[in-house]
Amino acid sequence: MEIKNRMRLELMSKSQNESFARSSVAAFAAQLDPTLEEIADIKTAVSEAVTNSIIHGYEGKEGLIAIDCTLFENQIQIIIEDKGIGIENLNQAMEPLYTSKPEMERSGMGFTVMDSFMDSLIVESQPGQGTKIIMTKKINN
Ligand SMILES: Nc1ncnc2c1ncn2[C@@H]1O[C@H](COP(=O)(O)OP(=O)(O)O)[C@@H](O)[C@H]1O
Ligand SMILES: [Mg+2]
Repeated sequence: MEIKNRMRLELMSKSQNESFARSSVAAFAAQLDPTLEEIADIKTAVSEAVTNSIIHGYEGKEGLIAIDCTLFENQIQIIIEDKGIGIENLNQAMEPLYTSKPEMERSGMGFTVMDSFMDSLIVESQPGQGTKIIMTKKINN
């Protein structure tokens, strides 16, 4: 598949940067002429992944979050990576309603939302090393 365009963003793990990340990816994705619904889905998925890096990956401490976006003819790939604490039990983490932070009133639906709003979701994580989310969504098909 031919790459049409590509961008990379690196952000500090601050909650103020979540809306910046979401809007930046949406603005970049706009080049593929997506529907409003497709843009809304992408924003929601990016928001969930970046929030997870801030809250879970770095647990509110300082760290960097990298966002890579690649545009293909009819598809966007978004990679969101942190170098935080990582995930010990990935199967459990990805179950609907599972959260390791119930005291923070997390819904446990972040991965479920990413999975349902995007066309593919791959999570790679190593305890102590960090977490990498690779998502794709077809646009205008
Ligand atoms: N980037 C991350 N780094 C470390 N742990 C993560 C990360 N993303 C998700 N997790 C783990 O996976 C669980 C499920 O995530 P999610 O479905 O978004 O639910 P929630 O964020 O509401 O807890 C989290 O509670 C956390 O334990
Ligand atoms: Mg979450």
